[in-house]
Amino acid sequence: MKVTVVGAGAVGASCAEYIAIKNFASEVVLIDIKENYAEGKAMDLMQTASLMGFDTKITGTTNDYSKTAGSNVAVITSGIPRKPGMTREELIGINAGIVKSVVESLLKHSPKVIIIVVSNPMDTMAYLAHKVAGIAKNRIIGMGGALDSARFRYRLAEALGCPQSDVDGMVIGGHSDTGMIPLARLAVRNSVLVSEFLSKERLVQVAEDTKVGGATLTKMLGTSAWYAPGSAVSSMVQAIICDQKKMFPCSALLDGEYGMKDISIGVPCIIGKNGIEKIVEIDLTDAEKAKFKESAAGVRAVNDLLA
Ligand code: LAC
Repeated sequence: MKVTVVGAGAVGASCAEYIAIKNFASEVVLIDIKENYAEGKAMDLMQTASLMGFDTKITGTTNDYSKTAGSNVAVITSGIPRKPGMTREELIGINAGIVKSVVESLLKHSPKVIIIVVSNPMDTMAYLAHKVAGIAKNRIIGMGGALDSARFRYRLAEALGCPQSDVDGMVIGGHSDTGMIPLARLAVRNSVLVSEFLSKERLVQVAEDTKVGGATLTKMLGTSAWYAPGSAVSSMVQAIICDQKKMFPCSALLDGEYGMKDISIGVPCIIGKNGIEKIVEIDLTDAEKAKFKESAAGVRAVNDLLA
């Protein structure tokens, strides 16, 4: 099983590292436009193999897509990242051109590949990938909700003063500071609703901290985060490669689900060897439906900038 990671920056390299450490893929190809950069990251990572105990072979290439041939899964992380104070939406001009050419190059060498889009503004880049690729919609998945949900669980555990393994919760909607919808109503601590433990006000705070999770880190680090994004992608790649049928909120192209069409936005999806195997339609309250509509309007406004 072969995985290509496009972009050997921090997110791409972390993603390759976690895939290798989890030891479920035979090969990871890192590809970057910067001369020798992917090769260097691949070599550095391969020098951890005996220490970390993995057998995954990681190679790097400077923009030679023939090396990615026959990939089962490809992750697109390329593009410019956010700087402090920037929104994900401000990256659209440059990243749209990059994502378009990357999708074309990937499909040329791996016609059956399943593509995970990470580049921002992610929902719009996933939508663009669908338009450019023209392949079955289950084969293009946007990574946002898996990360946002992990950040939600981090904030929930912090508020509850408990380990994250005790907590479950999910974030749907667009992958933007205003578009995310942390479903606090459904979040649980070991099967008990978190509302049994936390006040309404505290839960609102948890949701707000979750929504600006990426922006908070960008301000602290001077660039976009990478450990949690890389880890979230690696879990999705694993679900595909190992045909786990695992549920993640993902940016999926909707065709009537949640009453919407022609938009890629975060909804719960079952992920397995075919990519998105099912979009799960959960019952939302009227307030959540209204938020979802508003979130979709935000995503569509960014999609309109593609024209
Ligand atoms: C973040 C980027 C990956 O949320 O969108 O950190």
